[in-house]
Amino acid sequence: MDWGMKNRLSRIIKPKDGRTVMLAVDHGYFMGPTTGLENLGETVKPLLPYADVLMLTRGALRHYIPPETDIPICLRVSGGTSILNETNLLHEGTVVSIEDAIRLNVSAVAFSILVGQPFERDTILGMTEYIDEANRYGIPVLAVTAVGRGLGKDAKYLSLASRMAAELGANIVKTYYCENFEKVVETCPVPIVIAGGKKIPEKEALQMAYNALQAGAIGVDMGRNIFQSENPAGMIKAVRAIVHENATPKEAYQIFKNEK
Ligand code: 5RP
Repeated sequence: MDWGMKNRLSRIIKPKDGRTVMLAVDHGYFMGPTTGLENLGETVKPLLPYADVLMLTRGALRHYIPPETDIPICLRVSGGTSILNETNLLHEGTVVSIEDAIRLNVSAVAFSILVGQPFERDTILGMTEYIDEANRYGIPVLAVTAVGRGLGKDAKYLSLASRMAAELGANIVKTYYCENFEKVVETCPVPIVIAGGKKIPEKEALQMAYNALQAGAIGVDMGRNIFQSENPAGMIKAVRAIVHENATPKEAYQIFKNEK
């Protein structure tokens, strides 16, 4: 692994503890003006001091984030379908060239694959082509194991998709938490972060983050459970305490409540 790749990875995964709090606000690329992100810049600004990495699209980066902002960027580079297109949901391809990703000075790129759909091959080859390009410039690729309708969020499916992403060259895998999550982590040779998924009560989301870390995940790449919380700053502080300070879910929930 060359110096550039190692350096960028160290901006994503913090060397002091090998963990990371990624704030995901990329939802607009297929969901449009997602609740909480109508004015993405205003939502994100107070959360930035507690995030290690910001994951978003190039349009959001250009329009909502001032260029002098000091935070590593994980740029979403796959897309192409919307939530209105049910049959092709998450049938994604490349939507940002590697040149533009470099121009935006990103520390990593994110590409979704959808294993188990008739179009899985398109998304997988899309990702591997992007990995080849990103490798050329020392840019890490985070593979997102998207879950389509009818595909279970269970350890059997998620370990299959995560292991595939890693074997195909992804540097980090973003997947969903599930029961027996240790199996997903143990069989995946690259670091795993979890998505938060749909908004759930704060207490449950903190428990999920804790369970994922206990099972071996190196952090979270969480969106809706932070920015749709009644208190987003309290929530990201609480998540951060779990990830970087080994806080228990109870301690973290107290941090969330104190912030109110
Ligand atoms: C979809 C994505 C998201 O757009 C997002 O990053 C997920 O974050 P969360 O589920 O925590 O809101 O990666 O596959």
